[in-house]
Amino acid sequence: MSLRGRDLISIKDVTKEEMLTIFREATSLEPWTRSKSDLLRGKVMALLFFEPSTRTRLSFETAMKRLGGDVIGFEEPSITSIAKGESLIDTVKVIENYVDMMVVRHPFEGVAKAIANAVQIPVINAGSGALSHPTQALTDLYTIWRERGRIDGLTVLFLGDLKYSRAVRSLIQGLLNFKVNFIFVSPELLKLREEVREELKEQGASFVEMTSLSQELIREADVIYVTRVQRERFVDPMEYEKVKGSYKLTIEHLRHAKDDLMVLHPLPRVDELDWEIDKTPHAKYFRQVFYGLLVRMALLKMILT
Ligand code: NCD
Repeated sequence: MSLRGRDLISIKDVTKEEMLTIFREATSLEPWTRSKSDLLRGKVMALLFFEPSTRTRLSFETAMKRLGGDVIGFEEPSITSIAKGESLIDTVKVIENYVDMMVVRHPFEGVAKAIANAVQIPVINAGSGALSHPTQALTDLYTIWRERGRIDGLTVLFLGDLKYSRAVRSLIQGLLNFKVNFIFVSPELLKLREEVREELKEQGASFVEMTSLSQELIREADVIYVTRVQRERFVDPMEYEKVKGSYKLTIEHLRHAKDDLMVLHPLPRVDELDWEIDKTPHAKYFRQVFYGLLVRMALLKMILT
């Protein structure tokens, strides 16, 4: 089993065994998060971001720099030759000559895959459309594994935009490698896509779907995964108006939660997760950001060496 030279386009590209190897590698790289190593000295990575990002882009950049490598790229495609009419595929075939690997974020599903097919170097999908975000899913899985020591047997409650969140979809697919109980809570308009429901059924997963949170559901949860309404993915702005502000996890909700309940959020948060929760031991979302750095360091090291 080796990730060397491989692409990471979907979380389904990674087996359960490979996930656990990535997690162990991530933990072993922790000493290098505050100083610099030369594990990837001489390697160069391109960051090609066609959509806004804070933590994904900066965490990939930090990961490479902490491992001693270099980073080139753009976060604003309007300053590249794409603005002159160059095709995306030509652009990446040019950039391929400068670097050892590419990390791509794009609003359309399928673009990372198309780029991976066009170039010879490894490509990592850093979020594509509403459907996939494998490095976020590995971060989320690692957070659960690291904080609880296991994933099997846990109950994971998803709250939020289950229709448009690529983080949710990839995490569900990742969790299907383990034995977990799923609880899905969302407004009617933001329920799981039918194909995800089918996937859960095919895998024989235990899941329930609800339209509002209750103390009973929260009491069962080991993990609550909250997401914002993915405003930029709505085709119809009126649909967004109907669901904005329609759910929020508050500190009162957590009154009867398990002591070791973990609240996760891929961030950014808008108004769906009470700031009061930050002060409680349940809040793991900033820890999750740190774990995202470790996971990306592990992936870069495993793919490039
Ligand atoms: C997520 C994304 O871009 O899908 N953000 C992230 O990468 N941490 C979630 C979101 O934007 O809500």
